[in-house]
Amino acid sequence: AITVDPSARGAAIDDTMYGVFFEDINRAADGGLYAELVQNRSFEYSTADNGAYTPLTSWTAGGTAQVVNDSGRLNARNRNYLSLGAGSSVTNAGYNTGIRVEQGKKYDFSVWARAESGSTLTVSLKDTAGSLATARRIAVEGGWTKYKATFTATRTSNRGRLAVATAHDAALDEVSLFPRDTYKNQPNGLRKDLAEKIAALQPGFVRFPGGCLVNTGSMEDYSEASGWQRRRSYQWKDTVGPVEERATNANFWGYNQSYGLGYYEYFRFSEDIGAMPLPVVPALVTGCGQNKATEDDALLQRHVQDTLDLIEFANGPATSKWGKVRAAMGHPKPFHLTHIGVGNEENLPREFFARFEKFRAAIKAKYPGITVISNSGPDDAGAIFDTAWQLNREGGVDMVDEHYYNSPDWFLRHNDRYDSYDRTGPKVFLGEYASQGNAWRNGLAEAAFMTGLERNADVVKLASYAPLLANEDYVQWRPDMIWFNNRASWNSANYEVQKLFMTNVGDRVIPSKATTTPDVSGPITGAVGLSTWATSAAYDDVKVTSADGSTLLSDDFSGGAAQWRHSGAGDWSVQDGQYVQTDTAAENTMVTAGDPAWRDYDLRVKATKKSGK
Ligand code: AHR
Repeated sequence: AITVDPSARGAAIDDTMYGVFFEDINRAADGGLYAELVQNRSFEYSTADNGAYTPLTSWTAGGTAQVVNDSGRLNARNRNYLSLGAGSSVTNAGYNTGIRVEQGKKYDFSVWARAESGSTLTVSLKDTAGSLATARRIAVEGGWTKYKATFTATRTSNRGRLAVATAHDAALDEVSLFPRDTYKNQPNGLRKDLAEKIAALQPGFVRFPGGCLVNTGSMEDYSEASGWQRRRSYQWKDTVGPVEERATNANFWGYNQSYGLGYYEYFRFSEDIGAMPLPVVPALVTGCGQNKATEDDALLQRHVQDTLDLIEFANGPATSKWGKVRAAMGHPKPFHLTHIGVGNEENLPREFFARFEKFRAAIKAKYPGITVISNSGPDDAGAIFDTAWQLNREGGVDMVDEHYYNSPDWFLRHNDRYDSYDRTGPKVFLGEYASQGNAWRNGLAEAAFMTGLERNADVVKLASYAPLLANEDYVQWRPDMIWFNNRASWNSANYEVQKLFMTNVGDRVIPSKATTTPDVSGPITGAVGLSTWATSAAYDDVKVTSADGSTLLSDDFSGGAAQWRHSGAGDWSVQDGQYVQTDTAAENTMVTAGDPAWRDYDLRVKATKKSGK
């Protein structure tokens, strides 16, 4: 039975309470929300991004085609270009089954080309059944120049290929094909169906760009002087300005990121959907499987300054140094940034907090109105979590970002999680959470849990399900909220739950009491997607079994592991149907998701909680 007292007043609920968390995982950006149809458009794919890559990944060449990295390049940040001999051609295969075109729709092609002695490029769209649009001829002469052409598709195809042939010697770079029809018709825009699905949630905020993407690699150099080392974390200055000058980089999740969807586009998208932009910057302490904190004060100061510059980029007048960059990109008016996250899931709470304080002091000195968000580490409980919260409380932090992925049972059992949180301490930003699965049962458990978030809306100020997007052919992490391939997108049950809450945000909680609630005690069991954490502080052991009951992985923490994680990239792989641990030294072990066979496994995880936790 549920008893409601309509005259009682509970917590006020902010309009921004429910938002989305966008991270470029599962090809959420290139091959996903970013509408570019050409894969590896600037020939920058490299083994530094993924062992299987070459600069011609997704391209096939006919005749003499060679990727060149020399001083004849387009610009210093776009290192490779393609040299094509007379009568040669290249063909791009796009993502998934190919380039998707729809009959009657327009597609904008562009290319940077150089042909000192002059040439004619023939650009065509086709699939195995033949032409998909009238071919275009482009006369090219002289040094690097941007050329454009438009196609109107004469047929619909999911298997399109874009081919560029040259009559005489020519060099090409930044070969691009965009649907004319992007979200809100923005240039360098977003794929409409995906953006519309996100917009339909009416998110209160957009947290971006990650995730593990943010902090891992934050100590790496990434400059011309260093030879453009890859694997630097996602840093905003790398991602703004003309797209052909955004040096592509290795993505934490094992592929190349073009940064075509960069900070300007994130801010613009947030504005387009009426959501508060909420960027996260690296704190110079790594999490996500690494334990490292920078001791390089100059580097730390550079990042602090970058963060101040980011706020100026978002909010400064068009006459300010970074406001001018924003204005030049097409947005003279400010983006109204009010919240910023520093760091993500750091495993070293003390080291993190010491560095966080430097960011916070500098931000508050210059922009006292900005809410600076700290975090509680990678887990929902345990020693790291407790220390992080203690530091955040004692340090008078505005807001703390908590993350957890757990079984549906866990979510049902923890509806009361925030009932006992200190009302005078930092507010909570639940920046990432999901129960392990995309089944209806998962959505239901999340809905039940969200009633607890809402009941505690005086403490829990912001909440976002994670991850948001997954391209079904490039999955690193399950479950995910919205799924897609090159031609379609579909919502999960979890999406429908989020939408229900997000499009019906109340003003105030009316307190209620429920009796005869179901008994959800017992060990944590449940089908896993690609994510769950267990720490030796909270659990005695964890076990992953296949549907037939055979054990694939188990850990009783006797080896001293502090954390066990079933997710992400890197340390585990699937070989001949067995999980193989490839990095036994890792304190933070992971199961890889890159193997397409992954989805064929119906796994169960069982973790035994320590008593009292
Ligand atoms: O949402 C996927 C990952 O989960 C994020 O990158 C990270 O913050 C968390 O561990």
